[in-house]
Amino acid sequence: MNKNIKFSKFKLIAMAALCFFQFNCKNEKHKSIPENSEIDYVTETVGDVDFGKTKMSEYTPEIRANMNKLYDAKFGMFVHFGPYAQLAGEWKGKKGAAEWIMRRSFIPVAEYEKEAAGKFKPENFNAKEWVDIAENAGMKFIVLTAKHHDGFAMYKSEHPYNLFDFAGFNRDILKELAEECAKRDMKLGFYYSQDQDWHEKGGAGNDWDFGSVIKPADEFDAYFREKAVMQIKELTTNYGDIFMVWFDTPFQITDEQSQLMMDVVKEHQPGALVNARLGNGYGHFDVSIDNGTTPSVSKATWLPDLKVPWQTHESVTKHGWGYTSRGAELDRSEDYSDFIYSLCRIIGNGGVYLLNVAPRPDGTIPESQVNSIHVIGDWLKVNGEAIYGADPSPLKFPPYAITSKPGKVYLHVQDLENNQVALTGLLSKVNKAYVLADTSQQALKFTQKNEKLSVTLPDDLKQQYVTVVVLEIEDQIAKVVDETLQQAADGSIQLPVSKCEFSIRRISYDYDKKVTHRWGENTKQGLIWTVNIKQPGRFKVVSEDSGNDGFEYQLSTLKDTITLNAKGEIGKLTKKQQDGYIKIDEAGIHKLTVYPTIPASKATKGSYEFKGLELIPAKE
Ligand code: GLC
Repeated sequence: MNKNIKFSKFKLIAMAALCFFQFNCKNEKHKSIPENSEIDYVTETVGDVDFGKTKMSEYTPEIRANMNKLYDAKFGMFVHFGPYAQLAGEWKGKKGAAEWIMRRSFIPVAEYEKEAAGKFKPENFNAKEWVDIAENAGMKFIVLTAKHHDGFAMYKSEHPYNLFDFAGFNRDILKELAEECAKRDMKLGFYYSQDQDWHEKGGAGNDWDFGSVIKPADEFDAYFREKAVMQIKELTTNYGDIFMVWFDTPFQITDEQSQLMMDVVKEHQPGALVNARLGNGYGHFDVSIDNGTTPSVSKATWLPDLKVPWQTHESVTKHGWGYTSRGAELDRSEDYSDFIYSLCRIIGNGGVYLLNVAPRPDGTIPESQVNSIHVIGDWLKVNGEAIYGADPSPLKFPPYAITSKPGKVYLHVQDLENNQVALTGLLSKVNKAYVLADTSQQALKFTQKNEKLSVTLPDDLKQQYVTVVVLEIEDQIAKVVDETLQQAADGSIQLPVSKCEFSIRRISYDYDKKVTHRWGENTKQGLIWTVNIKQPGRFKVVSEDSGNDGFEYQLSTLKDTITLNAKGEIGKLTKKQQDGYIKIDEAGIHKLTVYPTIPASKATKGSYEFKGLELIPAKE
């Protein structure tokens, strides 16, 4: 059978599955949760379809304590390590993927066993070195792939396909890592691919050996109970305190199976945080889409609302998450500033950052990767106050990364062209401004008039990558302007993507181009604008996007809906006048939403960009 056909079939199913595990958020209320609150914040906020089944009221004190730790920790190390590293991104002389190489190069189980798993002996693995590296990067927890989609367990498991028994490597590296972490103040979590397992007949994903990607329910259930659940039991019993279990790609897992897994984790580790990729709405915290293939790190914006942490993950490597010789040995010094700024941006939006490294097959982490993360660590040694335990920006639509703590606002400044750090929207009186890296806290000159603030940052206080300017303010919680969008005097209404909120976190945003990235992939990805309408009426709609006529989406008010069509050229951002009108018949505050109706990826092959809408009053 033709491999391309098989692959595209896989892609279709994978996409359907992806849609399936996206979570929903129809309710647009965002508020922070009062301490010890019993409200089901997660459920209430994101709806009950894809994320939020694990209600806040079910969060045990142990879970709440770890939630708080995660919220304070902010920054962790993801490690993708497994037999795929052995292949280093190459199969039979041809370029292949990283941790997906078995699937992408259709390597039969028997050959993968022989060439990758059987030869994999991470002899230079040194737990102390790994923990040192993470610690020096300012990371507070480590999440290691205990079993990835290739089905190979990285520890001594009862299931024989593992590093100890199958590869004959006479050490349990998870045990060594767990013991090292326990000695230090480093929390440990495990990544576990519960659904895809390309080694097993019943696991999802392998159709080149076993005929289909999605498996008959009984076969999958047998795999799930006999391998996945058993291994999660081992992982949550044999390695001390587990901070987090990071599940992935819930393609065919049923509600009952997700629930079972949740129960197993809870029984053995009542404090372990489970991510939402367990599937079917289960999990304690949500994670973003993968960083994808955008240049450098992907820039994503998120709901700046939660004390309940959500998390995004990116990699210091290119071409995947696991080791490849072409993507994991690169000097990334040109991106150092962006790595740091990415951290600031994520924390400024209420998130937690998991940054991935990919060790070589011998277990060592390449120096170039260590350099990339240590640059962040060095920056954090000086600027950590603005990150660890910090709250998000008090402004919903900050012009750049901003974090806050009681009585303080931190402005994270990258690439400042002149000496003026400007901010519009802060109402609290500023008492003092200084650079966080300046130990003498020399007061900076500033002017503040109504909501406009301008701080003078002298050249000699500008830092190499990102400078943090601290504002000491009069209020404990910063007061800011009302950010509701206003209808213009000529009656027009601008709805730029830069001023909308996302209904779910699985959309990302390109801060440079001010367009969405990967919006339109599924019908739950809503964009929401809050607008104050003074002159109601009928409006023509002008859209600005880059799709073709295969992609449609809907603009809605509470009472009216209009279908919009991308009707242009893929990859070319243009303004288009749409057919028809939208009616807004009352003055007041309105929520205007846009939801995709036909997934954009089908019509535009993933390159779709959306910049926003303009509503123009119709001449009666
Ligand atoms: C994915 C990929 C996987 C990677 C993970 C990291 O969904 O399947 O290879 O481990 O994302 O977030």
